[in-house]
Amino acid sequence: MDRRTMIGTLATGVAGAALTGKLDAMETSKAGPVGDPLADYAPRPFEFGSGLPGLSKDLLLEHLSLYKGYVTRSNALLKDLLVAEREGKAGAMVQELRRRLGFEFSGMRIHEWYFEGLSATPGKPTENHPLHKQIAATWGTWDAWWAAFKATCTMPGIGWAALVRDPTTGRLMNAWFQDHENAIPVGTHPILVVDVWEHAYVKDFGAAGRGKYVDAVKPLIDWKAVEHRF
Ligand SMILES: [Fe+2]
Repeated sequence: MDRRTMIGTLATGVAGAALTGKLDAMETSKAGPVGDPLADYAPRPFEFGSGLPGLSKDLLLEHLSLYKGYVTRSNALLKDLLVAEREGKAGAMVQELRRRLGFEFSGMRIHEWYFEGLSATPGKPTENHPLHKQIAATWGTWDAWWAAFKATCTMPGIGWAALVRDPTTGRLMNAWFQDHENAIPVGTHPILVVDVWEHAYVKDFGAAGRGKYVDAVKPLIDWKAVEHRF
């Protein structure tokens, strides 16, 4: 299974990371179930230093703390679920563990895609990169796509805006991920994701400031990471 296939099962991520100086957009948590099915996932070491231009350090540190909570809860859920299954349990409590796992695990992974796509020194879009040619072919112009993507970011609701690619046809779509795990076009690959839960912006921009937050995120998007996902 190649890396694109590996990440495609769910869907996407912007923002960023290259704050650590190294970038691997497809990198997933180092620890995982390979070998030991009860092994924990480790929180990815995103280091935002003094913050990102336009986003405060307090906001980013709080957001990273929330991300680590998803990792912790995913590890606990995965253990509880597997132990229950090994014991042959299959009742309502086990079923609810599975339902909750979709929320917690997706919350962990999609935050990783978001953080690794943001950078204080982001890569600029590469001229003539196939992604940008396809964006222009799909929406007419890059600006028209961004307008539609920003409109996705500012939709009422709790969730994520995502630019995704259907691997069966190569089609690009702007999608809305409700919470972390709902309304995802199944099987699409994440190209870019932006967290638009209120915790991602209220501290800096206020409850009515989602649009200003998206404007602040726009210049932080690391197109090197985004293009790598295409
Ligand atoms: Fe978040």
